[in-house]
Amino acid sequence: MTVPPDLVIRNARIYDGSGGEPETADLAVKGERITAIGAITPNHGGEEIDASGLALAPGFIDTHTHDDLAVIETDMAPKISQGVTTVIVGNCGVSLSPLTPHRDPPPPFTLFGGAETFRYPAFADYIAAVERAGSAVNAACLVGHTTLRIAAMDDLERPATQDEIEAMKKSLAQALDDGAIGLSSGLEYPPAEHSLPSEVEQLAAIAGRRGGIYATHMRDEFDGVIEAMQEAFETAREARVRLVISHHKCTGVHNFGRSKETLALFDRAVKMTDAGLDAYPYDACSTMLRPEWVANARRTLISMSRPHPEMTGRDLDEVTRQWGVSREDAIARLQPAGAVYFDMDEQDVRRIPKYPLTMIGSDGLQGQSHPHPRLWGTFARILGHYARDVGLFPLHEAIRRMTGLPAERFRLKDRGRLALGHFADLVLFDPATIKDTATFEAPQQPAAGIHTVWVNGQKVWHEQRAAAARPGHMLKRAA
Ligand code: ZN
Ligand code: CU
Repeated sequence: MTVPPDLVIRNARIYDGSGGEPETADLAVKGERITAIGAITPNHGGEEIDASGLALAPGFIDTHTHDDLAVIETDMAPKISQGVTTVIVGNCGVSLSPLTPHRDPPPPFTLFGGAETFRYPAFADYIAAVERAGSAVNAACLVGHTTLRIAAMDDLERPATQDEIEAMKKSLAQALDDGAIGLSSGLEYPPAEHSLPSEVEQLAAIAGRRGGIYATHMRDEFDGVIEAMQEAFETAREARVRLVISHHKCTGVHNFGRSKETLALFDRAVKMTDAGLDAYPYDACSTMLRPEWVANARRTLISMSRPHPEMTGRDLDEVTRQWGVSREDAIARLQPAGAVYFDMDEQDVRRIPKYPLTMIGSDGLQGQSHPHPRLWGTFARILGHYARDVGLFPLHEAIRRMTGLPAERFRLKDRGRLALGHFADLVLFDPATIKDTATFEAPQQPAAGIHTVWVNGQKVWHEQRAAAARPGHMLKRAA
């Protein structure tokens, strides 16, 4: 070899992201790419790491995030600390662009902030802002259906007219041409719940025609979960678009155990539809505070409250008692607010990630004072708790769900595998000690067992700390 590598990682157990068994080898990086894997002769000048006893994997891909703003404004510590090197942003129908609203957009947009946060009238402006700020991780962006709705409609409480749909189609097509990788929807949320399937289908078809993807937070994850899945599959078939069902779960006590039915439906549907799904490994979900979701949960914690920040992290029932008001009144007083709902069954929480098509997506929400622990813990929890301790699947399979599988589904070129010529997004970790330490009580804790994380060949996390580097790229839809 004439040009010496910048970095050689020696004697690592290499998990290449394909789902195959690991092998011990060295790996070399030059610039942004992997240049050699095997037995590498001594290096002169570059960095050498002895990784004996450690696992080396492709950087993890967080398939479901709301990090649109966080990639610009933060060091992404909750993600890089667990080995995540790429995030898919703009999920659940909610993307930061293209939108410049005249008034504060309704929840769930409050997760980003008020009207002043939405500064990108064109998707290209958003891409430029991320590139200007520099991001610690790579990002690929979906365009939110609800974002398009708010930009195109004065009244969200009704189906869109054909003129409004045409305006949304135009805006979406432009965003896809600028580099967005697809469309997302959040049909369970108030600003999108009045949209008819035909509205979503026409937009999904715009994504489909350009080789984009459609990711959906379905209309219902409670009693109507099967009907909601049928709607998602039908939309994808009619629109001829690749599908992802987001954060798949069966919520509410009546639906415990129903992942048997939903996954059986998935088995049948994938014969006709190119579809995948993602999930996070917890028996609680987190979103806006709404009475009907509180009613379905065993227990509810406050994750965020604008007027009452002192109540974050507290049990809703406790707050209700303290105030001496009805539960409805307490919920109203806390708004705008977010909550963590304990409303899932552990058997479903295991069965869904075990399903061969399931990718891992955290759905973690940054900027909350007491977030759901999935934000800091998802990937380490799959690897440590579920793969190693519970034995849900072997480590190499767990890694495939967060690397090779999502890179293929989202068509992220030269990512998700340790292979010659691929980008050097890498995570070096100890398989014996990797563990999520974030809990519902103390949710903002970095995972244990992560040694070093690289994005495009540069170190972003080492010895439990974020480095200053911002080497992430915007991953644009391949034309
Ligand atoms: Zn969602
Ligand atoms: Cu989400």
